[in-house]
Amino acid sequence: MVRRAKTTDVPVIQRLVNFYAQKGDLLPRTLQELYERVRDFYVFEQEGQIAGVCSLFIYWADLAEIRSLAVEPEFEGKGIGRAVTEACIAEARDLLIKRVFALTYRTAFFERLGFRVVNKIELPEKIWKDCLKCSKFYHCDEVAVLLDL
Ligand SMILES: CC(C)(COP(=O)(O)OP(=O)(O)OC[C@H]1O[C@@H](n2cnc3c(N)ncnc32)[C@H](O)[C@@H]1OP(=O)(O)O)[C@@H](O)C(=O)NCCC(=O)NCCS
Repeated sequence: MVRRAKTTDVPVIQRLVNFYAQKGDLLPRTLQELYERVRDFYVFEQEGQIAGVCSLFIYWADLAEIRSLAVEPEFEGKGIGRAVTEACIAEARDLLIKRVFALTYRTAFFERLGFRVVNKIELPEKIWKDCLKCSKFYHCDEVAVLLDL
């Protein structure tokens, strides 16, 4: 079942996000950041366990980002990543946001959900807000993917 995250989910969300952050797949998040942004998150709960998480971060009137998308390794390949991402996309649509993007190493996953690969230059809001401050700015190997709603 996909549902909105509650504050009591935050420690589990952090453990899952930071598990993938250690591998370099995601950015690490502090508990404080996650409590502040808990309303951005959806979780997939199965028999009382959080199996997947995803958040929607709004940049501007027409632009939002899929962030902190993670599925427990034992639950990968069962449609959970799709379910939590589509919950975020549905919310973006309700908010009348026109474009949803992600920076990712999992391009094929996003392409299955209808995203297309774009040049990061198409996302100036992201570059000005985050990328310029990133230590990987000059050698960023993440792929930008974009979904037009
Ligand atoms: C990427 C991730 C969220 C995918 O979650 P998942 O639950 O395994 O994905 P799903 O089962 O929902 O797959 C959805 C679709 O994507 C496809 N897909 C998933 N991972 C894929 C991969 N690595 N390569 C190709 N296709 C993939 C599936 O075949 C499926 O296609 P279908 O629905 O048309 O049959 C998960 O592997 C993960 O947490 N990875 C580590 C963290 C990460 O990289 N997050 C993304 C950062 S932006």
